[in-house]
Amino acid sequence: MRIEELNGTNCKTYLLTVGNEAALVDPVRERLDTYRVLLQKRGLRLRLVLETHMHADHLMLNREAKELLGAIVVMHRESPSPLVDRHVVDGEVLALGDERIEVLHTPGHTPDSVCYRVAGAVLTGDTLMIGGSGRTDFPGADAGQQYDAVVGRLFALPDDTVVWPGHDYRGKTESTIGEEKRSNPRFLGRARGEYIALMGSLGLPFPERIQQSLQVNQSGFEVEEVTFPLVADVAAMPPITPEHLADELTRELPPLLLDVREPEEFVGELGHIRGALLVPLDALQRRLPKLAGYIGREVIVVCRAGARSATAGAILRQAGFGHVRNLAGGMLEWNARGLPTER
Ligand SMILES: [Fe+2]
Repeated sequence: MRIEELNGTNCKTYLLTVGNEAALVDPVRERLDTYRVLLQKRGLRLRLVLETHMHADHLMLNREAKELLGAIVVMHRESPSPLVDRHVVDGEVLALGDERIEVLHTPGHTPDSVCYRVAGAVLTGDTLMIGGSGRTDFPGADAGQQYDAVVGRLFALPDDTVVWPGHDYRGKTESTIGEEKRSNPRFLGRARGEYIALMGSLGLPFPERIQQSLQVNQSGFEVEEVTFPLVADVAAMPPITPEHLADELTRELPPLLLDVREPEEFVGELGHIRGALLVPLDALQRRLPKLAGYIGREVIVVCRAGARSATAGAILRQAGFGHVRNLAGGMLEWNARGLPTER
């Protein structure tokens, strides 16, 4: 398998090729034309778009981009993105030509962070960088989990495994697992607790455009449609646990359940909760007038993992809905507790 970095910037996109079959790892939307020309010039067929996690620093592919490239978008099962064709879990193996791409679930930077292991190399996303690691100060991040992922999983790979990171801010392009074990200052000589303390003390500035990138990536909205409140406000909406919700649904006047996923998800693998009203997030703003009758009612917003519903909640609150709560962990958690669903 041939691996090339395409962007030449801090933010890395990799092209994997086996014969004339190709995969793109973490493509950046604004470079779409460059990728297309390159694929065409080389006569490559793009099979897979492999995302290492939900990105906060750049725009991921949108619907049109996905269609233009004609490839299957792969992300971890816990990804909040609405545009995933194939959700994967730890240990799953994808094929490119006659080669294998193994998924390693390495949460920490985000809950849905994965690394992709191929013959002789590993694409580490924002889990492990050259002489560094991905920040763990965004909502859902967990420095302890990241330590376990890097030290327990990645450092257990053969020393000569080449490391291809999602970012590099120091002009380095390539390293190996052995090199990182010997010299990565974030991990060298640090116990788990010390790593957590270090990561908690970094005080990194938030990336430019984080609000726009995250909310566009999580919602499937187009950039110009993002007119709703800040991530901070979104995070302030009270959560409700699946058990608590199941309980409230047995009341005489149960809360209104608003499911903001795509129609195919509503009837897909995870199903939906009985009585839920389907209003996909990108249609919510338009349909607000129709929902006006519910304005005094308790509303629970539901999605796949709890991210799109947080955005929906912010939109509803901005529109005057006073009692909006977010189903914590979305339909993934609801299913994980074995609560009943319909399709
Ligand atoms: Fe990231």
